[in-house]
Amino acid sequence: TLAPLDVSKLKVTLTSTPKDIPPAESLKFGKTYSDHMVFITYDPATGWSDPEIKPYAPLSLDPASSCVQFCSNVFEGMKAYVGADGTPRLFRPSLNMRRLERSAARLALPPFDGDVLLELIKRLVQVERRWIPTLSGCSLYLRPTIVGTMPGFSVVPSESATLVVIASPSGPYFSGGVKPVSLLAVSDTVRAWPGGTGGHKVGGNYSPGFLPQKIAEKQGYNMVLWIFGEDKSVTEAGAMNFFVVLKRDEGGLDLITPPLDGTILPGVTRSSCLALAADPSFQKNIASSLHAHERKFTMNDILLWSKEGRLLEALCVGTAAILVSVDRIGYEGSDIFLPKCEGGLGPVGRAFREKILAIQEGKEEFGEWSVPC
Ligand code: COI
Repeated sequence: TLAPLDVSKLKVTLTSTPKDIPPAESLKFGKTYSDHMVFITYDPATGWSDPEIKPYAPLSLDPASSCVQFCSNVFEGMKAYVGADGTPRLFRPSLNMRRLERSAARLALPPFDGDVLLELIKRLVQVERRWIPTLSGCSLYLRPTIVGTMPGFSVVPSESATLVVIASPSGPYFSGGVKPVSLLAVSDTVRAWPGGTGGHKVGGNYSPGFLPQKIAEKQGYNMVLWIFGEDKSVTEAGAMNFFVVLKRDEGGLDLITPPLDGTILPGVTRSSCLALAADPSFQKNIASSLHAHERKFTMNDILLWSKEGRLLEALCVGTAAILVSVDRIGYEGSDIFLPKCEGGLGPVGRAFREKILAIQEGKEEFGEWSVPC
């Protein structure tokens, strides 16, 4: 029988050369790595190896490995914070574990129990506790990753795999802080399509965006707004989910994001914004009622809403940055401008950002979202 992932078999080997931790103010996003990592392998003959937490080190990979040749790579992004009570916390980690299970299944990588992996991640966070920055807005970013390691040039599923979890003390994703970003609407290259992998967190979703991103930057925009199909549907922005906030004729606000039709990543921050929007106690933070919708909208809708003066905010949300607002969208040679907001965030974006950060940092409770390690 094949061994399942088993936290009781965990072996912890601590480094004899702990690194110096850089000052939190100097931290960039994802550039510094902690002392240790979770390391586990899957062998089709025996199953999952006994999990290890061991000193951070390079992987040894056969150059013919499936992940090198065919990008069989899935990952997650999660953040650990230290609460006011000194307890390390994760934010809605079960959502990441369920998504990683689905992503692995989508690339025919070996199955595993995400709840067991979560226990291992909690152990890593405990071991790396000193690496969790306490400066607000900083966190220990965690990157669970599974790669196919079976060597071979035939186009077949990888029967073996390596699972690692690495940790990176991180500052804000955008160095500009809460400064709004500009987007270039792009439809000649697409991020995702029906039946593809856009709804899964696979490494191969991201590298095809590097060139369009470079082209957008050359034209003076920060990120790509991914447009799909004949009807120019709005999907995602850069590596983030996308929302618009509209003024309603009858009073109140509409909050709209594209539905999870397989082309949209089911983001944890996306789901959190939708849940908060539906919560009466959260609505008190925004002086108007908020009506959340998961529905398709197009570039024509955006043009029309902008012309009518109804387009109040456009928001990009994701684990890494939490939330940034958009000040300008380039489309077919001209720019659509969003209303200017004091401090770079409109009322809805600000309320989401502050609430989510407060829950993540353990300053406020919301359901069971903040999970102690
Ligand atoms: C996020 O917003 O967390 C992302 O998906 C970007 C990440 C790949 C750095």
